[in-house]
Amino acid sequence: MSASVLLMQDIAKTFPGVVALDAASLSVRPGEIHGLVGENGAGKSTIIKVLAGVYHADDGTVSIQDTPVSPVTSEVIHAAGVRFIHQELHLVPHFTVTESVFMGQEITTRLGLSRRLMCARAETFFRDVLDVEINGDILIRDLGTAERKLVQIARALIDDQARLVVFDEPTAPLASGEIEKLFRAIRRLKDRGIAIIYVSHYLSEITDICDRVTVFRNGRDVAVLDKVDENCANELIKAMVGREIDALYPKSGHTRGALVLQAKGLGDTGYFSDISLSAHSGEIVGIAGLIGSGREELIDTLYGLRPARTGEVTLHGKPVRFSSPADAVARGMVLVPRDRRRDGLVLDMSVSENINLASLEEVSCYGIELRNRARERASRQIRELDIRPDNPAIISRQLSGGNQQKTVLARWLATRAAIFLLDEPTVGVDVGAKVEIYQLIENLARNGAAILLSSSDPGELIGMCDRVLVMMRGRITHETSAVGLSIDQLVAMTTGASTQNSAEGHADAR
Ligand SMILES: Nc1ncnc2c1ncn2[C@@H]1O[C@H](COP(=O)(O)OP(=O)(O)OP(=O)(O)O)[C@@H](O)[C@H]1O
Ligand SMILES: [Mg+2]
Repeated sequence: MSASVLLMQDIAKTFPGVVALDAASLSVRPGEIHGLVGENGAGKSTIIKVLAGVYHADDGTVSIQDTPVSPVTSEVIHAAGVRFIHQELHLVPHFTVTESVFMGQEITTRLGLSRRLMCARAETFFRDVLDVEINGDILIRDLGTAERKLVQIARALIDDQARLVVFDEPTAPLASGEIEKLFRAIRRLKDRGIAIIYVSHYLSEITDICDRVTVFRNGRDVAVLDKVDENCANELIKAMVGREIDALYPKSGHTRGALVLQAKGLGDTGYFSDISLSAHSGEIVGIAGLIGSGREELIDTLYGLRPARTGEVTLHGKPVRFSSPADAVARGMVLVPRDRRRDGLVLDMSVSENINLASLEEVSCYGIELRNRARERASRQIRELDIRPDNPAIISRQLSGGNQQKTVLARWLATRAAIFLLDEPTVGVDVGAKVEIYQLIENLARNGAAILLSSSDPGELIGMCDRVLVMMRGRITHETSAVGLSIDQLVAMTTGASTQNSAEGHADAR
């Protein structure tokens, strides 16, 4: 057997003004799960895209099973059995699941395209490999982010020819239950002798699933760990950011002020029902729940993106019914959306324009943009969130995935809202930036904002929140103080494994 299934050596790639890769190497052994970690912008996605033939390297060599590949084109790489689950989702909203899975690799019989066969095969794949039920006839636009990710995975693996599968941050849109399923699927691939490259910012995932790990920093491989266990996290962080991080969460306990937001008996047929909750000034309230628990829809409804069928929302004691997000913003409530690349970022605008988009009144006078003030404001946010490269004029499309996330966050965190709805605020950002973001959220709460933090990361909920609401099947099933709450307890609540610790005081709220 060959010593490596993939060997990339001294890969260099420069974009105008940015050295993305500078003599970076990556070596993957047959049948191993190989982790790839590094800060936002370290070059992880770029080296993956060089391997995929999406970008052509300026320098360096690529060998698959000890055979040099040159030039690296998507056709050759595909024929060699390398498959990619890229960080971005590229699915056509009005295609069905089956069409999306088989696009470009349709099954034909003597009678032409066999839709029934393809649909059955896609559904079997979802059931057998990914352990989920997804109807092949449903449209992509009717699926949530997690299910779209699973469609993307099915599309890469359905032909059963994979030898090396690359996952670039696959769990970012997934909640803990789905992550377990994905891990089971990945381990099953490994058992079949398939090698895996696994890119993630979740170091607990890395130490959980990977056999070896390569660390990237500033476009180079700076460390390779040959043995991985749960004690490696600190070593990984140090190699990634070049310093130790002693506390991820700044929590200090908050003074709870006046009631700001209240929902009573909120419901939307098929998604959630009888939701009552409140958020006070100076308080961080967490919302936990698996995909499909109604968590995403609830947040969208509170923000006015979807109408509620029943119930009411009050803001500072007055009933409100937002007709649009702009309406919500005008009344002091902002949403940091979960899919920031899709819903938040104008890819062709500069970073400065994106950051200032929600505060145009502060950077303009009688409708005329005050350039310097806009630049200054953007530069401040770029510094606070460590957005890289630190250039307000750069076009947002050219940023790495995590830096795009930070740009949208910067826009909303800089507004002077009374209530912030944060939907997965740290998905896709590296551990150093997470610390900064947590500190900003903490500062908002200390300055009197009310914060609803919806997250699929139990550690984040426990670390940041004063109390946590747990949603399951469209209802709030638990309400608990975050003090003394363990990750296992919270996961048990979100998956329904726990019936204890049930909502104290929640019955009165309803
Ligand atoms: N198409 C592009 N044009 C210009 N610069 C780019 C382009 N793609 C990436 N870059 C730059 O190259 C560097 C490496 O980006 P890359 O996407 O590989 O980072 P990453 O390690 O995947 O980060 P993240 O964790 O944020 O996804 C970044 O500085 C980024 O801004
Ligand atoms: Mg990336």
